[in-house]
Amino acid sequence: MSHALTELFEGNRRWAAATEARDPGFFTRLLSQQTPQYLWIGCSDSRVPANEILGLLPGDVFVHRNVANVVAHGDLNALSVMQFAVDALKVRHVMVVGHFGCGGVRAALLDLRIGIADNWLRHVTDVRNQHRPFLDTLADDETRMKALCELNVLEQAYNVCQTTVLQDAWSRRQTVVVHGWVYGLHNGLLEDLKMTVASWGDVEPAYQVALAGIHARHGQHIERGVSVSA
Ligand code: CO
Repeated sequence: MSHALTELFEGNRRWAAATEARDPGFFTRLLSQQTPQYLWIGCSDSRVPANEILGLLPGDVFVHRNVANVVAHGDLNALSVMQFAVDALKVRHVMVVGHFGCGGVRAALLDLRIGIADNWLRHVTDVRNQHRPFLDTLADDETRMKALCELNVLEQAYNVCQTTVLQDAWSRRQTVVVHGWVYGLHNGLLEDLKMTVASWGDVEPAYQVALAGIHARHGQHIERGVSVSA
């Protein structure tokens, strides 16, 4: 075993000992069941670890991650995670969490070739194309990049709401709220995009509120540019 991997096992032993010392019986209690309140659907990016960002411990958050936090309608993996989280674990919140500076979103925005992921990222390219009239009005690629990171969260959270998993949960009056958040790699902070959906009737209004917010935040750049040059 290489030196680096030995360090991982040593690090693991230190972490387990420290966790047990801080909270005796911690692992024994988790053995019997998990009762997370949250399902986090995020990007695979190593800089966006769900538990650490939320300050939560093992047992607190159920996690699904893929490149660019995509929720595709036919993705059996994501659907299985969602169904187990909502139906069996009864999570109270499902958050789709994107992040600024996402390489997958950048590739989709600029039509960069990465490899097999290009096919996966077509889902994000679809989001770009859907919002192209707005994106084309923005000043530069950096602004478009930020806007598309947020728009991708918005659309993927919308997709979560369209699943039979959420629709069935809401029709049996189960309490489960869908959220769209974006994370700043530069400051470690989460922003709420206000795509907050607690029932089927909330979906379209919440989508419109969040979309208006995205338009206002990024569209301001143009207005400032126009007033400076005028
Ligand atoms: Co990413």
